Amino acid sequence: MKMTSLDLVENLLGEFATSLEPSLLEVLPDSQGMEEQVIDAMRYALFAGGKRLRPFLVVMTSRLFSVEEENAIRVAAAIECLHTYSLIHDDLPAMDNDDVRRGKPSVHKKFDEATAVLAGDALLTLCFEILSDVKTHSDPEIRCELIATLSRAVGALGMVGGQMIDLKSENQSLIENEINRMQQMKTGALIVFSCEAGAILAQVKGKRRDALKHYGRDIGLAFQIVDDLLDIERSSLDIGKTAGKDIRAGKATIVSLIGAGNAKIKADKLINQAIKGLEIFDDKANILRSLAAFVVGRNY
Ligand code: IPE
Ligand code: IPE
Ligand code: MG
Ligand code: MG
Ligand code: MG
Repeated sequence: MKMTSLDLVENLLGEFATSLEPSLLEVLPDSQGMEEQVIDAMRYALFAGGKRLRPFLVVMTSRLFSVEEENAIRVAAAIECLHTYSLIHDDLPAMDNDDVRRGKPSVHKKFDEATAVLAGDALLTLCFEILSDVKTHSDPEIRCELIATLSRAVGALGMVGGQMIDLKSENQSLIENEINRMQQMKTGALIVFSCEAGAILAQVKGKRRDALKHYGRDIGLAFQIVDDLLDIERSSLDIGKTAGKDIRAGKATIVSLIGAGNAKIKADKLINQAIKGLEIFDDKANILRSLAAFVVGRNY
């Protein structure tokens, strides 16, 4: 059977996910004190699987500028900690109330709600501890820029704000631009940062940095549209979380607004736009081109 570029990037992503494990293990704190349970919950959530898409973006965009791989991997591990926090909190009964994540019981089911809140808090703070460490980059200005840019992406005007809108929009009718904005904030912003990280590490500004941000914006929006499509089209077993929950919760999504067919067309358009935006880069960006196709072609 012939391997397509989609199969190749999927394999590459799988291999990358395995190769990231030691770096994630290294950043996890270790303690046998009374606080041990929160660390067990952090470890449980981090190693439950996960595509590691955001870390992959960090490393692939860093390679465009020949950033030291050890620096890129530290940023990648930090982002995965933060992303995992967002999933733990997203699943809480007060939010989406999902009992399954990454094919396993959610953290509040495996442990309890208080532990899930704390494990999320600790993964969020661990992310910034990693970024502020000299091992991440020797230049303190670069470390500060990573921290400042990421803080803006995931705070009240970024991911957290998007999650607020998501919850407030249940059973409300939003117009398309409002849904785009919400998705840009709750999911897109962290993906944009993951794409920009390589440029920050290399201190690359201007057109090349903007091109990566645009690429991140396009694939980020497409990524959430596909997440919403998978919720209605795939089984819980395929996606590792409870399928069909968006309709039950009355979530405002592009799919609920314009239908699955039109949402697919929109996601495809965004992906073509993302690939076009990479014209400024040579063949070195081919993995990012294939990855864009994976974002819409994936079935998990
Ligand atoms: C799920 O993200 C949450 C969204 C932002 C849609 P992923 O689909 O990347 O989840 P994992 O990391 O692979 O579990
Ligand atoms: C999650 O969006 C966005 C986050 C910031 C975690 P969803 O609520 O659609 O993510 P899933 O489907 O539970 O992974
Ligand atoms: Mg949610
Ligand atoms: Mg959810
Ligand atoms: Mg979803």
